[in-house]
Amino acid sequence: MTEALLVAERLSRRFGGLSANEDVSITLERGRLHALLGPNGAGKSTCINLLSGDLAPSSGRITYKGRDITHLSAPQRSRVGIGRSYQRTNIFGGFTVLENCRLAAQSRRQRAWRLFTDACALVDTLDKAREVIAEAGLEGREDRIAGTLSHGEQRQLEIAMVLATDADVLLLDEPLAGMGSEEATRMVALLDRLRRTRAILLVEHDMDAVFAVADTITVLVNGQLLASGPPAQIRANVEVQQAYLGDEAFHV
Ligand SMILES: Nc1ncnc2c1ncn2[C@@H]1O[C@H](COP(=O)(O)OP(=O)(O)OP(=O)(O)O)[C@@H](O)[C@H]1O
Ligand SMILES: [Mg+2]
Repeated sequence: MTEALLVAERLSRRFGGLSANEDVSITLERGRLHALLGPNGAGKSTCINLLSGDLAPSSGRITYKGRDITHLSAPQRSRVGIGRSYQRTNIFGGFTVLENCRLAAQSRRQRAWRLFTDACALVDTLDKAREVIAEAGLEGREDRIAGTLSHGEQRQLEIAMVLATDADVLLLDEPLAGMGSEEATRMVALLDRLRRTRAILLVEHDMDAVFAVADTITVLVNGQLLASGPPAQIRANVEVQQAYLGDEAFHV
């Protein structure tokens, strides 16, 4: 039995006259990786922003573990367990890997921001930071200045920072962007591991990666849901093939 963690129903978001998302419904389940595909400008980042709370929907409803969270802010959603990464790398480049992860861990544990933080809370965030650094495959890099890491490692660090917030829903906007094939392979293996205990929504243009790792694929075109289903079904879908005309991943 799968556990539906995040359920979005008929989400729409308009920017002036443009429908960036229109009636998009998506369910994210624990143990499953759901990929969101679509051409540039299809509305993928908008969808992530609606789920993360960075954007308010024009209409529609979002529940998390059965609770209506449509009107929660992004920090509130992060605290209940919905984490996200951005299309552009978003780390503190001058801080160490460990410091970046501790800051992320503290953002979940609000008390740690108080002036007279008790020592236990600090030890707690240190333990959490070390745990997620290992989980994201960055052991031995704790004291490196984040800005000096390779591009691939910086993206692993972003994932570690999301994990440090104890997120059990991961919304990942193009985590493989700009990676070489070796780095991309490592990231796909990491996503495969992380999916086992969490729900993942992955926006990605790398078709090989998507078809290798996704349990479910949803395709957006012009803000609308074109198709949703298991990878084999999506690959065989004629409308999807037309939307991706020329892309060899769909040459059957
Ligand atoms: N804040 C905004 N204000 C106005 N229009 C926006 C805004 N954000 C996105 N859009 C528009 O909404 C549409 C969907 O954009 P979005 O960034 O969600 O696409 P995407 O699928 O993530 O594209 P890409 O693959 O290039 O990242 C585009 O036409 C974009 O220009
Ligand atoms: Mg985008």
